[in-house]
Formats: sequence, structure tokens, C-alpha cells
Amino acid sequence: MTLSFPVSEPDQDALEKGRLLFAGETDFVKGVVAMDGMPPDNRIEVCFAGRSNVGKSSLINALTGRKALARASNTPGRTQEINFFTCGESHYIVDLPGYGFAKAPVKTVEKWQRLLKAYLSGRATLRRAFVLIDSRHGVKAVDEEIMALLDRSAVTFQVVMTKADKVKEKERDAIMAQVRSKISAHPAAYPEMIVTSSEKGWGVDVLRAVIATLE
Ligand code: GTP
Ligand code: MG
Repeated sequence: MTLSFPVSEPDQDALEKGRLLFAGETDFVKGVVAMDGMPPDNRIEVCFAGRSNVGKSSLINALTGRKALARASNTPGRTQEINFFTCGESHYIVDLPGYGFAKAPVKTVEKWQRLLKAYLSGRATLRRAFVLIDSRHGVKAVDEEIMALLDRSAVTFQVVMTKADKVKEKERDAIMAQVRSKISAHPAAYPEMIVTSSEKGWGVDVLRAVIATLE
């Protein structure tokens, strides 16, 4: 099959590294609401960003193989804190609050935006942000805002398509072409995407391998 977009294709070695990393213990450390509450930056760190309901918490659960680790809820905007999880001895996985949730009060949104900016520009050990994009919807205006913020913060980001089980292959490919053209405008974007379904377990091994082999 030839795809019109580049995807991450880790080799056996990388897949094995990913498997081993996530076979280690994963634990919830804390939910953080201010910079001074952050855990020490002594681990390789990756964060998950995306619109409310895109599937961040579900993907973290799928990665770690722990069903209720990152609370996945049916109520958009439920994850209200920057949640830190340890992954093995070497990594932090960070679940960011979902953005683009219109029902949140303006003051709350502003507070989160400030914290998000501070986190993205101030966390020395943050190696990569994964920007989650719903396979049914593609890149929306709010996604472009976060991508622009990542550009400004000089944090490399990689797009992870979620809920791939909800679309037919043809539809998915059209959406991914849209995503590809959108990210080509962002200097901080990593060109290869990862296609996932937390529901089916698709792409979870690829994402594990990518995380485990970050320099
Ligand atoms: P916030 O924390 O509110 O920002 O949401 P979130 O991005 O963490 O989304 P969450 O993981 O809570 O998932 C939202 C909804 O989508 C839940 O009902 C999940 O069951 C569903 N969902 C997540 N991933 C998948 C998937 O891969 N396939 C399908 N079919 N549903 C999914
Ligand atoms: Mg969540």
C-alpha cells in the first residue's frame, strides 16, 4: 500500500524498546495546577495535547495497558489538571487539559492558557508533544493555535490520529492529507504521523516505540 502521507515505522529494535519501557511500572504522580507544583524534571518527558474529547486519556490508558490510569470520561473537559504519570524508571507521560471546550468559563480558560504556555516553554526535559487529531475531523482552528504555540515554544510536536476505528480508510486518508498540508506550515512539526485507535489497540506499539527511542 502506498500512502500519500508519511507515518512512523519503527523497526523491531525500537518496537522492543517500546514494549520494555511500557512493561515497566506506570503510576499516577500528581495533577498540577501551577508551575511550582511540577514534579522534578529528572525524566524524559512527553506530553499529550488535543481538543477535549479527542481521546488523550484513552490513549494513555492504552499505552500503559491500565484501563483507568488516566481517567477517560464521556464528559468533555473533565481532565482539568496537567496530569503526570511515571513510565518505567526513565520517562514521564503528561496528559494536558483538553482545549477548545466552549463551556468552560473565560477565567478558567485564561488560567489554563497561561499554565500551558509556562509549561511548554519552561520544561527543559520535555522532548516531544503529541498533538492528537480526531480521524473524523482533521485539524481545526484550535489545533492550529496549539501548533503555533508549540512553534513559539520550540517544542517539537508529532501528530497522532485518534479513533481511526471510527472512519473508513478512504475518509481517513482524505483527512490525513488535510492534516499533512496543515502541519507543513509549522516549523516545530515532525513530518511523520501516527495512526491509532485506543479502542482497537492500533498504532499503540508504534507510539510506544517512538516514545522509547526519543533521544
Ligand atoms: P478530555 O480529558 O475531556 O480533554 O478528553 P480526552 O481527550 O482525554 O478524551 P477521552 O480519552 O476521555 O475520550 C473521549 C471519548 O472518546 C470517550 O467516550 C472514549 O471512550 C472515546 N474514545 C477514545 N478513544 C477512542 C478510540 O480509539 N475509538 C473510539 N471508538 N472511541 C474512542
Ligand atoms: Mg482526558
